[in-house]
Amino acid sequence: MLEVRDITRAYGKNKVLKGISFDAAPGDQIAIIGRNGSGKSTFLRILAGIDKPAGGTISFWGHRADKEKSVFRQFTGYLPQDNPLLDELNVQDNISLWSGKGGRPQEDLVREFYLDDILKKKVSQLSGGMKRRVAIACACVGNPPVLIMDEPTASLDIYYKKEIRTWMQKFRQGNGIIVVATHDELEMNDSTKVFSMENGVLTKRR
Ligand SMILES: Nc1ncnc2c1ncn2[C@@H]1O[C@H](COP(=O)(O)OP(=O)(O)O)[C@@H](O)[C@H]1O
Ligand SMILES: [Mg+2]
Repeated sequence: MLEVRDITRAYGKNKVLKGISFDAAPGDQIAIIGRNGSGKSTFLRILAGIDKPAGGTISFWGHRADKEKSVFRQFTGYLPQDNPLLDELNVQDNISLWSGKGGRPQEDLVREFYLDDILKKKVSQLSGGMKRRVAIACACVGNPPVLIMDEPTASLDIYYKKEIRTWMQKFRQGNGIIVVATHDELEMNDSTKVFSMENGVLTKRR
């Protein structure tokens, strides 16, 4: 279970998040839609433990993450809106960087994300869709039960969009939780709950 209660965040006088709350259970996909600048990325960074909220609580299966930062590492994988990969390194080295100590065996990730042919390629030589696939693999090195995805398929062609959507469905079938910021109708349709972010507040759409 993921429980988010009353998360707030401001940049100076700009109150971006005014009390965000929702729950998610294994198998859920929570879609967050909303205009550019509405606070989706700010919220996802907080949910991933990259940024700190001004107030509110986040817990993963009863473990309070806002009290203990390592809880985020234990429970979440994060795909940022902008690619987090190092362009001048090859795919294998990027994955190794993210693995750190422990993590899933590389062969595992190679199989799941079809990385065999591109392992030795520099990230700068990959297409946008390939980069996204590698970034998702990096988010999954710690085998997280909760995946936080910031516009995973924005500006990809329909084939990569479909590939990534299919992968997301599989992740949830394995009891994962996905929280996804998106403008994509199909990703919304796949989701078990859809919220819109407006004026710092989440409203349930379905
Ligand atoms: N690091 C930052 N410093 C100051 N303001 C920021 C920062 N990051 C985001 N903002 C502001 O917070 C608001 C929400 O931005 P963001 O979370 O990126 O929205 P979205 O992902 O929905 O497009 C915007 O008004 C943006 O200008
Ligand atoms: Mg954003």
